[in-house]
Amino acid sequence: MIIKMPKAGTIEIAPSILSADFAKLADEISQVEKTGIKILHLDVMDGHFVPNITIGPPVIAKIRKHSNLFFDSHLMISEPEKYADAFIKAGVNNITFHIEVVPNPTDFIKKLRDSGVSAGLCLNPETPVSKIEKFAHLADMILVMTVHPGFGGQSFILEAAKKIKPIRQIVGKDIRIEVDGGIDAETAGIVSELGADTLVAGNAIFGKSDRPAAIEAIQKACRR
Ligand code: DX5
Ligand code: ZN
Repeated sequence: MIIKMPKAGTIEIAPSILSADFAKLADEISQVEKTGIKILHLDVMDGHFVPNITIGPPVIAKIRKHSNLFFDSHLMISEPEKYADAFIKAGVNNITFHIEVVPNPTDFIKKLRDSGVSAGLCLNPETPVSKIEKFAHLADMILVMTVHPGFGGQSFILEAAKKIKPIRQIVGKDIRIEVDGGIDAETAGIVSELGADTLVAGNAIFGKSDRPAAIEAIQKACRR
């Protein structure tokens, strides 16, 4: 089944399973899927690009059988080109990779789209907008990190969020701008006002016992 990224123009909350209970992932995912959200954010870490290790294709292939959500994989890994096919085979619908490790991403973005998945381009808090400027229009989504990648539950970096506005000017309204790190019912207002439309939240959803209420609180905080 082909699952498409929701068309730009709506605000989408994308729960990150990083803060979920990995011993009962299918259950955790079903709790958020029931609320009507469309995107699930999957954080992949290699212990090399970031100082932490999470999940890879075998786990994703298993959870794929339990969910119809759009699987938005965020590859925090040093060699995304080498592993993309394995993630596509496992069932992801989007691959977001870091500009810091693929500084000339034109061919890789094309390869991803030719393989039937969308392409996201991510920049770390300290990476300037100028690094993605030439390639931004080729991607389906730009991911602005508002924490240093590697761990859930960190504090939101406002300076990094300020890049959303110039990026929105570059990409126009048809490309999604996702924001990741420290998003909760308070910071959601700031990033949505700056022009982000796809809000990843890990701790603010899976760190709470009432997941539907947590998602609703973030949705309500969005300003548009
Ligand atoms: C951080 C990951 C995030 C993380 C966000 O390296 O890319 O997706 O899960 O977690 P919170 O929402 O807890 O900051
Ligand atoms: Zn992420």
